[in-house]
Amino acid sequence: MTGVATGERTLRAGLVGLGVMGRNHARVLSALPGVELVGIVDPAENGEAGRWGVPVLPELGKLLALGVDYAVVASPTGLHEEIGLELAAAGVGALVEKPLADSVEAARRLVAAFESRGLVAGVGHIERYNPSLQSLRARLEAGELGEVYQVVTRRQGPFPHRIADVGVVKDLATHDIDLTCWVTGQEHVSVSARKVSKSGRPHEDMVAVVGQLSGGAMVNHLVNWLSPFKERSTVVTGDRGCFVADTLTADLTFYANGAGSTEWEALRAFRGVSEGDMVRYAIPKREPLLVEHERFRDAVLGVRDDIVTLRQGLRTVEISAAILESADQGVTVSVPSPDTYSEQMNWGV
Ligand SMILES: NC(=O)c1ccc[n+]([C@@H]2O[C@H](COP(=O)([O-])OP(=O)(O)OC[C@H]3O[C@@H](n4cnc5c(N)ncnc54)[C@H](O)[C@@H]3O)[C@@H](O)[C@H]2O)c1
Repeated sequence: MTGVATGERTLRAGLVGLGVMGRNHARVLSALPGVELVGIVDPAENGEAGRWGVPVLPELGKLLALGVDYAVVASPTGLHEEIGLELAAAGVGALVEKPLADSVEAARRLVAAFESRGLVAGVGHIERYNPSLQSLRARLEAGELGEVYQVVTRRQGPFPHRIADVGVVKDLATHDIDLTCWVTGQEHVSVSARKVSKSGRPHEDMVAVVGQLSGGAMVNHLVNWLSPFKERSTVVTGDRGCFVADTLTADLTFYANGAGSTEWEALRAFRGVSEGDMVRYAIPKREPLLVEHERFRDAVLGVRDDIVTLRQGLRTVEISAAILESADQGVTVSVPSPDTYSEQMNWGV
């Protein structure tokens, strides 16, 4: 479903944070059927006032005074908790950008605040709406790969000067944690990580993670802000071959294991015996952020219920905390068992 049911009321939405990601949210919210963007909060004078046709306000209280059904939180990660708690206290639902919060404790407080009031709230783990990963998940669910042996993600690129409050684990690896759990239905049970900080900032800018997933598959995440090229790759290897998803181009390719053997001995020795057909799927490519907003709007309207839950966002923050602990101490860390907030985790597979 891409539109809203006819006859549904128009939702009043607000946006908190008008930076790089906030401007994308403003663009999508401004044109989202069934939703009216009524105001934006950003204390910085960034030349954006007037561009969106709604007031850009200096503080959240002024947006709440306009009356909103929900707000999108795209402020720096360190402010997600404070802003989220104020929205929950005002009875306003929230789509909070990833990561849910900058600490496990803050993420737990957000879960409690929204759940105790029965408010619709979710996390902007946008990779779930990438067409390549949606297709990959459906194919794994249909058993096309058989048993999953290994998940490898690479998320490398140049340094974003504006991100100052968290390092690469909370800012970027949380994408990979969430997508791995969601695509496979398995979550990290132990992690071993190494990190470095080369940019002179207090937080890490490069991390390598090896881990074990709950269904027995192994996982590897390479994430950094120190590469002069941009890469967003997810490779899932299993019984029947290997899926390669590129979330920059939204392409999904399947490399099948070969069924027979070649008779050309030289080539056989060079290429191996199990190389089979390669298929690049033709998949419809809708903008992930638009799909994320459609799903959230439909959840607020109560007509559909498949957003990234705060509990899933909390679990991702818990796993990222285990990665940082492992890197700090140089040891393998068992991810603590889900607690009362993230128990009975269902990644939907
Ligand atoms: N889903 C994604 O792919 C994705 C991509 C980029 C960023 N993000 C997330 O979005 C959030 C913002 O990142 P960004 O790259 O846009 O950062 P940014 O620095 O470009 O923008 C942050 C904005 O928040 C504003 N701000 C500061 N304090 C505020 C307050 N109290 N209330 C309202 N606004 C306030 C700043 O003035 C700035 O305009 C982060 O949590 C980040 O992790 C997600």
